[in-house]
Amino acid sequence: ARVAVVISGEGSNMAALLYASRLPQAAFEIVLVASNNPDAPGLALAEAEGVPTWSQSHKGLSREAFDQALHDALTAARPDAVALAGYMRLLTPTFVERWHGRLLNIHPSLLPKYRGLDTYARALEAGDSDAGCTVHLVTEDVDAGEILGQVAVAIRPGDTPDTLAQRVRLAEHQLYPATLSAYVSRHQDANWIEAEVDALAA
Ligand code: GRF
Repeated sequence: ARVAVVISGEGSNMAALLYASRLPQAAFEIVLVASNNPDAPGLALAEAEGVPTWSQSHKGLSREAFDQALHDALTAARPDAVALAGYMRLLTPTFVERWHGRLLNIHPSLLPKYRGLDTYARALEAGDSDAGCTVHLVTEDVDAGEILGQVAVAIRPGDTPDTLAQRVRLAEHQLYPATLSAYVSRHQDANWIEAEVDALAA
């Protein structure tokens, strides 16, 4: 399957997806890394790895105009699925609807707990015994779409948001490629991709 990755920053999950895609048995290839931040470190990594990139700053653009530009860039790459990986902006309902069923995100909590920001501090403050990460389908409500995969990460005495984030990140790097592989493999016979792309082009 053809996968586009959308990032805003570091891009460590993008890197995990990219290197997983280069394993012999990989179920997907990365056809584009897109960003709203032309200075995102992840973009430079993708370029160094020979992956096509697209970036445009969202500054000065309406949310609708930026999402249309992102949509156009994605469509040109003909991805079967789009993986948000540290994309730090809200998407318009129009964009989400256009990619319905093909748009995934990774979130650093055990959803449905702790949608939104500051998930590590919130888990620590609540005295939880586990934090974790979740890959889910993107719907209009933030961090609320169907859960595709989840990994728990034990909270240790003395953990800070930073130490916890580091371990959750390790779990994310395993979870995202595995969950994306399973998802695209489940859908590969359904012709869902062609139907969607035709509908978009019409
Ligand atoms: C990850 O923790 C992800 O769960 C969250 O943003 C972070 C992105 O990190 N949505 P990176 O850019 O993949 O390193």
